[in-house]
Amino acid sequence: MEQFVPVITVDGPSGVGKGTLCARLSAHYGYHFLDSGALYRVLGLAANKHNILTDEHALTALARHLPVSFKDGQIWLTTENVTDAIRTETVAAFASQVAAIPSVRTALLAFQQDFARLPGLVADGRDMGTVVFINACAKIFLDATPEVRAERRIKQLKNQGLDANIDQITKEIRERDERDRNRAVAPLKAAIDALIIDSSNLSPDEVFNQAVAWVDQRCVDRQLIV
Ligand code: C5P
Repeated sequence: MEQFVPVITVDGPSGVGKGTLCARLSAHYGYHFLDSGALYRVLGLAANKHNILTDEHALTALARHLPVSFKDGQIWLTTENVTDAIRTETVAAFASQVAAIPSVRTALLAFQQDFARLPGLVADGRDMGTVVFINACAKIFLDATPEVRAERRIKQLKNQGLDANIDQITKEIRERDERDRNRAVAPLKAAIDALIIDSSNLSPDEVFNQAVAWVDQRCVDRQLIV
């Protein structure tokens, strides 16, 4: 008998706090976690290394057999720990560039879907609810203004002892959003059955509480019935 695997999708633009929300949801429900953005970032990093960022054929072949692994919160590209290296804005821009190629997205589809295992999954990305896990029991679309997201990013960088320019960060966020929203395949948008949370004026606790109320209503009851 096929078992029901509860999947919670969290989509939204960059710097909106999806990672924080997903980490809390995954701890709260004891579910696995998929950071799909990390996959595109690792691909972007590897593609740049091999000088194939604009070679669609080679990129797709690499995506099909991407030697990436996630272990104890660390991300590996073959034997190299790339956990920190993929977090730069430069690598984010590579990621968004390779992510706009349809054959690359198709190549990464099954790999991502394989993360849906018991007891459940929290999936973080741009197209989790619209493409990768269309049957997810609870879909959330997290949003916030570019200005609020830039301020949060600056705070994050300051906490890491790094300096950043607010205008530059806002510009980078806007450019990446634009590319993610306007690409032909799997553009960033809310699934029609998603709960949209605008977190601009909400605390992380308020966002989390709204999300849990939605998930409990959509997934947990269903699990008991099955
Ligand atoms: O979420 P994160 O900022 O790590 O994602 C980096 C980039 O990867 C995004 O700007 C987007 O272009 C791409 N991405 C995507 N689909 C996903 C996750 C990320 O296209 N599901």
